[in-house]
Amino acid sequence: MIIGVPREIKEGEKRVGMTPQGVDALVAHGHRVLVERRAGEGSGFSDREYKEAGATLVEKARDVWNEGEIVVKVKEPLEPEFPLMRPGQILFTYLHLAANRELTLKLMERRIVGIGYETVQGQDGSLPLLRPMSEIAGRASVLAGGMCLEARHGGRGVLLCGASGVPPAKVVILGAGVVGTNACKVALGIGARVSILDIHPERLSYIHDITQGHIATFISNRMTIGEEIAGADLVIGAVLIPGAHAPKLVTRQMLKRMRPGSAVVDISVDQGGCFETTRPTTHENPTYVEEGIVHYCVTNIPGGFPRTSTFALTNATFPYVLEIADKGYGKAMEENAALRKGLNLIDGKVVYQAVAEGFGLPFIQNPFSPPSLKTLS
Ligand SMILES: NC(=O)c1ccc[n+]([C@@H]2O[C@H](COP(=O)([O-])OP(=O)(O)OC[C@H]3O[C@@H](n4cnc5c(N)ncnc54)[C@H](O)[C@@H]3O)[C@@H](O)[C@H]2O)c1
Repeated sequence: MIIGVPREIKEGEKRVGMTPQGVDALVAHGHRVLVERRAGEGSGFSDREYKEAGATLVEKARDVWNEGEIVVKVKEPLEPEFPLMRPGQILFTYLHLAANRELTLKLMERRIVGIGYETVQGQDGSLPLLRPMSEIAGRASVLAGGMCLEARHGGRGVLLCGASGVPPAKVVILGAGVVGTNACKVALGIGARVSILDIHPERLSYIHDITQGHIATFISNRMTIGEEIAGADLVIGAVLIPGAHAPKLVTRQMLKRMRPGSAVVDISVDQGGCFETTRPTTHENPTYVEEGIVHYCVTNIPGGFPRTSTFALTNATFPYVLEIADKGYGKAMEENAALRKGLNLIDGKVVYQAVAEGFGLPFIQNPFSPPSLKTLS
């Protein structure tokens, strides 16, 4: 199969859909990989590395889209890419169609086979191609919080790990999911005192076990949140109610009870944020101060670490790319239920129920579902 890897064109996006290692493995399986020049630059991969791995370097995105049978990207396609798409071409990338009606209609019009990373789903409900970015956001949030506490950023000048004779900072994490668990690991590793809150006791039990009781766990409610954050140096917001706006767990009044110069990192900002005072920020201008508290609310935290993020993302996506290339997408989807869930669009039709329902578009059954599932639904 011919696999195409264009350069990402979204503002500030430095990740790339495939590493030279991925190219090498595909070529070893007898496939041909077209990589647009400078596609890997932002992630620290030179054209030479891709060439040595066996890629054919092409000058323009147009060359990738013209020939690629499957195009592997990171972000959703943008306006200049639409006219380059060919009917029946497979697009494997983050699509997030449920949030974008215009993009859905555009891709239906182009009649591509749209497989969205975000809806590839394991039988246990896990989202294996979203998880790596949540891991990175959780881990990086503690580093960002540490930066916010520096005096030059308006913080109270507290070092997360403390020093001999000086106690460490107190870090409170709201939400013990993938992001929260990863934030917890890093905060604990740095030597901070850590509390974590969640509404699900089993999440708290899991995290209590893996940290061997070295952190304090609390059931999340107004009272425990209020009490815990009052003495916190850093509060990290990592809650999610799937498909819904993040709950506003920390009100302005609650924030006023924190010590001035403390910090909050709201990772849930991409779902609207869990602090009343949250507003989205960027890597270029990541912080602002409100009620005396330094806020960090960057919507794409992994984007600040493109090299690590590209490796983490492609480690997860690559096995699916290889399976599609080796078997063709039809057989790959028949045999791999997780990949099948990733199919959003085919032949100008929506085959992902939530997207169709969200936009009032006709829903067509996934053509690669086993016959038993088709009769059940
Ligand atoms: N800003 C970024 O760059 C970035 C990157 C990755 C993920 N995220 C966002 O981070 C958030 C968390 O993602 P995740 O992968 O950890 O989700 P997850 O589903 O694994 O975890 C969310 C947790 O929040 C808990 N929760 C729900 N309501 C709560 C409440 N009232 N109090 C306490 N806990 C509550 C849930 O029980 C769950 O354990 C999401 O909004 C996600 O979109 C942002």
